[in-house]
Formats: sequence, C-alpha cells, structure tokens
Amino acid sequence: MSEQSSTSEGRGRLDTSVAHNARVWNYWIGGKDNYVVDQAVGDHIDAMFPLIRSVARADRAFLGRAVRFLVAEQGVRQFLDIGTGLPTVENTHEIAQRLAPESRIVYVDNDPIVLAHARTLLTGTREGATDYIDADIHRPDGIVQRASETLDFERPVAVMMLGILNFVLDTGQAQDIVRRIMASVPSGSYLVLTHPTTDPDLDGEGNIEAMKFWNENATPPITARPRAEVAAFLDGLDLLDPGLVSCARWRPESGSAATLPQFGAVAVKP
Ligand SMILES: C[S@@+](CC[C@H](N)C(=O)[O-])C[C@H]1O[C@@H](n2cnc3c(N)ncnc32)[C@H](O)[C@@H]1O
Repeated sequence: MSEQSSTSEGRGRLDTSVAHNARVWNYWIGGKDNYVVDQAVGDHIDAMFPLIRSVARADRAFLGRAVRFLVAEQGVRQFLDIGTGLPTVENTHEIAQRLAPESRIVYVDNDPIVLAHARTLLTGTREGATDYIDADIHRPDGIVQRASETLDFERPVAVMMLGILNFVLDTGQAQDIVRRIMASVPSGSYLVLTHPTTDPDLDGEGNIEAMKFWNENATPPITARPRAEVAAFLDGLDLLDPGLVSCARWRPESGSAATLPQFGAVAVKP
C-alpha cells in the first residue's frame, strides 16, 4: 500500500461523532491527534478512573523497554506490531532501528485515523523496512500473509500485542488469534503483551465501571481480564523475567515503579 493511498483512504473513513480508541489513547498519552468527542470521553473516564493516564503512559514506556531489550539483548530484528496506535514520539521502528538500522517492522491497525497517519510510520532506515497493514486482528491469517511480504517468517519475529487483545471480547477467540499468529513464527520468536485487568492486586476494580462507560459511549468495545486469562495467552511459551506483572514493573529503568492495572509480559517461543 503506498503512503499516499493509505493517507487519503484513512481520512475518508474518519468518524468524528463517536470517540475512537486510537484517538482517546493518543489524548491520554498527551498527543494532538484527537477530537472534541475523544477528549470528552477521555476526561470522563479519567474522572471515574484516575489511573488511566498513568496506564496509557506506562504501557508506552513498557513498549520502549521491551523493544530495546529485544533488539539489544536478544538480537531480534523483526517486529509485527498489531494494534499500533497513532504515531507518537517513540514508535517501534524508531526504537528498533536506532539500535539496529536493518530492523524490519510491520504495523497493523484497523482504525482509519491510524491509517491516515501511516506515513509517519513508514519513514524507516534505508537498511531496514517498515510497512503498514490496515487490517482487523480478528482475521489473523490475512495479517500473517500480508506481513510476510516484508518479514521473513523463517526467522524470529517479535509479535507485539499491546493493548489490543482487550478488543477481542471472546476469550476463546482471543486465544485462538494468539495461537494462530504464534504458530506462524519460528522457534526463538517472542510475544510481547500488555492487557488491562480487573484484578484487585493491581488496583484493577476501577476498570469495571470505566469500561462499562466506554462501551456505552465509545468504540470499539473493550474488556479487561483476570490474571489467569491473560496468563493463558502465554501458554506454550517461555515467560521471561520478571513474568506477568504490572507493565510499569517490567524491567523498570528507574528504581521505583507503580502498580497499575495493566499487565505486561514478554515470552519466547521454545
Ligand atoms: C490501546 S491502543 C494501543 C496502542 C499501542 N499498541 C500502545 O500500546 O500504545 C489499541 C489500538 O488497537 C487498535 N485496534 C482496536 N481494535 C482493533 C482490531 N480489531 N484490529 C486491529 N486494531 C485494532 C486501535 O485502533 C488502537 O490503535
């Protein structure tokens, strides 16, 4: 897909009458690519559930640490980033290609505003490659097929699913999606995950009412999951230290890290 066609097609499909997740997430992390309707829903949820901005920012910080770890310490050079979100200051390809310019990154999202901004995600190094696929995670086989135009599925791939499985409401279907995608990558590939939770251990009770409000007023519908269901996404993989934890507590770079109701984990396919 050329940069030009992705941009115009995305703008044509934009709906500014209802809050969209990619834009509200962008609002919570301090971005400008959002509309009044997104700000209103974002502020309302913030008032109900004041941890939400910290969750969004901690999730992005986790993304940065996980990509740096995978490139610098595990030698990963290929990333399939599903549920990319709007471009922000540190996107997956910028972090990876700064450390290893030959890194190849494929982004996937189904929101028209992310498609409209895809140009920013396609400015990789000459040695590496970036691509953007406008696709729905509910159809994983098509994603793998299209991603294989850019990624070599004979070599390890880091599959990034940050804040995305929560939009697959049926847990069995979400497990099947993870299984199918991880079956398509070789041994030595990684799954990088973040997922909201209702677990009291992570102060997640506030997600219940906040997500109810979201589902009545915004799109797409979302769900949070208890630890056991999030852990099940990692079945068959070897979970790396420190395990399935508050994403802010996953290999924090400064001494203290908050407990937030968003799990983060990195696992490797044996
Ligand atoms: C919470 S944001 C997370 C963005 C980024 N991964 C991060 O962690 O900062 C979720 C993203 O998933 C996208 N998304 C939601 N449902 C999707 C679906 N069914 N298929 C593909 N992308 C989806 C949204 O458009 C949004 O950009």
